[in-house]
Amino acid sequence: MTKPETSGAVPYLDLPAQMRGLRKEIDAAIARTLDNCSFCLGPDVAQFEKDFARFCEAEHCVGFNSGTSALHIALLLLNVGPGDEVITTPCTFVATSWAISYVGAKPVYVDIEDETFNLDPGRIEKAITSRTKAIMPVHLYGHPFNLDPILEICRRHNLPLVEDAAQAHGATYKGKGIGTFGAVSGFSFYPGKNLGAYGEGGALVTNNAAFAARARSLREHGSTQRYYHDEIGYNYRMEGIQGAVLGVKLKHLESWTRERRRVAQRYNELLAGTPLQLPREADYAQSAWHLYVVRHPRRDELKKHLEANQVGCALHYPLPLHLQKAYAHLGYKEGDFPIAEKAARQCLSLPIFPELTEAQIQRVASVMTAFFK
Ligand SMILES: Cc1ncc(COP(=O)(O)O)c(C=O)c1O
Repeated sequence: MTKPETSGAVPYLDLPAQMRGLRKEIDAAIARTLDNCSFCLGPDVAQFEKDFARFCEAEHCVGFNSGTSALHIALLLLNVGPGDEVITTPCTFVATSWAISYVGAKPVYVDIEDETFNLDPGRIEKAITSRTKAIMPVHLYGHPFNLDPILEICRRHNLPLVEDAAQAHGATYKGKGIGTFGAVSGFSFYPGKNLGAYGEGGALVTNNAAFAARARSLREHGSTQRYYHDEIGYNYRMEGIQGAVLGVKLKHLESWTRERRRVAQRYNELLAGTPLQLPREADYAQSAWHLYVVRHPRRDELKKHLEANQVGCALHYPLPLHLQKAYAHLGYKEGDFPIAEKAARQCLSLPIFPELTEAQIQRVASVMTAFFK
């Protein structure tokens, strides 16, 4: 085993390290786009869509300019609109809720499970009303939400499920990849994601051919034939260069997920003796380990301690969505979702990426452990 490092900065994320290993393949892929000048959609995006659909074991993948756009279109496909409600989690990146707001519907929050940070299936039914049109949980931090009980609720109430899979490329639920359990799902390829573009990117995944066809039209100004517009659409196309980059990176995704798993396992071992609440995979889940989030009541001091020792860390997320100023009009207040609020106060994300070395992991763990001595 590598000798433990006693000093040295550890970045929260090291995209240049990944780039170094890929540079030749990426240069060739980008050069191809420059040569064929397919800057918006084009052959590399089409190929990536096929490859990513296969990766998800889905019938269709439609490339978008962001995960937010893909989720927005997902709700349009389900005809969610003004006056409707969508049940979702307050513990997520705000874009989950933006998609609901963009179609004019209202996000209805339900508290999370303490163990997984994911939407708590046991609390969903109380929130269902005659206006509920969909349920949209998030596979947060790469850990699948508990699909079976949520799908059962969807069946009982005849509601479609939308998976926000932005953080969970390659995660599995009871051995099957996430992304096709719901009617539609949305992935993000924001650069820091497990599969990240070199700019913005996203995808909508579905087994429904009519949804896929309409999504293709909606992302391109509501048009299937140039200058003829069947409905009001959007400019949500994926860029050609992003398709080329993602095609290269997708080939590495499985091995990168294994490396993330290695990092998570080592943190679990090295931090086991500390008073931290460590992230655990539920028995039904294989996480994609997008983030490694620990919890502790003295989170703010811990964060300062890590920063003072040049160990990168981050907060996901410091303020739950029901308490965001942008959503003040929904009328929620502090105390409405105590588990999500506690998570926001106590969570701390440690460095996790495929290139993180054993020495770096040990450095993070020893700085963390020193805090409690
Ligand atoms: C849970 C979640 N949903 C949606 C999004 C939106 O994706 P994007 O940033 O690609 O628009 C993100 C990513 O940022 C996310 O983490």
